[in-house]
Amino acid sequence: MNKDFISIADYTKQEIEAIFNLTAELKEKTKHAEEHHICKGMSMSMIFAKPSARTRISFETGMYQLGGYALYLSPNDIGIGKREAVKDIAQVISRYNQIIMARLFDHAHILELAEYATVPVINGLTDYNHPCQIMADIFTVLEHRKHLNDLKVTYIGDGNNVANSWINLAAKLPMHLVICSPSGYEPDNKTLSYTRNQNISTVEVTSNPVAAVKDSDVVYTDVWASMGQESEAQERRNVFMKYQVNSELMKHARPGAYVMHCLPAHRGDEITDEVIDSKQSIVFDEAENRMHVQKAIIAKLLKQG
Ligand code: CP
Ligand code: NVA
Repeated sequence: MNKDFISIADYTKQEIEAIFNLTAELKEKTKHAEEHHICKGMSMSMIFAKPSARTRISFETGMYQLGGYALYLSPNDIGIGKREAVKDIAQVISRYNQIIMARLFDHAHILELAEYATVPVINGLTDYNHPCQIMADIFTVLEHRKHLNDLKVTYIGDGNNVANSWINLAAKLPMHLVICSPSGYEPDNKTLSYTRNQNISTVEVTSNPVAAVKDSDVVYTDVWASMGQESEAQERRNVFMKYQVNSELMKHARPGAYVMHCLPAHRGDEITDEVIDSKQSIVFDEAENRMHVQKAIIAKLLKQG
């Protein structure tokens, strides 16, 4: 295992599968209220430069269930990269806590944090990627489908941090991944080339939603304007309206295809109420699995699982 969990691309298929095995084990224990204080006496600083519900709640609760302690540092606390240099706070926190989780804007900052911290660093989202989310997502697909054979995933919308992490995953686990974004909003080019060069998955980028969802097992979407892009929201709404995941579009996917969204959702924009509230939607299972997967990641990084 690497010291840190910054990108799915840094992990092997075997390591990813080992995280899922531990996730299933810890989830079972949690469901049966079986104590699993494998990180007893350990603590984690959680640095948030952006807002969060799921990430904070799932990491904080997860660390508590592991017998450890997690402390929340709000966007006003450290002022990472502004009030204090990233490399300084990395070394300071390493003197207090056994592990760090951070949600930052600039991906270069999480890399720097990991470089200078002597303890493990977990990426809780940057402008570039969102690895814990996609680990929870694919674990959720595995739970529902029981296997990942012949999997077609279509991501519709902005080529953002969530899309980039799906592409990172496709470099490790075989799938047919289609990213359907309007022109000018495609995912990161370097990430695409890297994954395509691994020859593990087929990764397509298209701008045609109907063709993209054809025969899909999973239709995934995310907000059109991510945190930090609020001023572009109206302009993006105009560009993305054709990319809404609605009942009409879902007719073109495989019957019973799963609908996924990392949440928070802007209902009525990227996804309609009808679709997100439908039987096909597994958005709350994926939200729940954030906690189980992250507990496994914490335990692995702390060499306790
Ligand atoms: N999906 C996700 O990361 O949610 P939050 O932004 O609420 O943490
Ligand atoms: N792309 C979204 C994901 C939120 C979990 C954002 O960065 O705001």
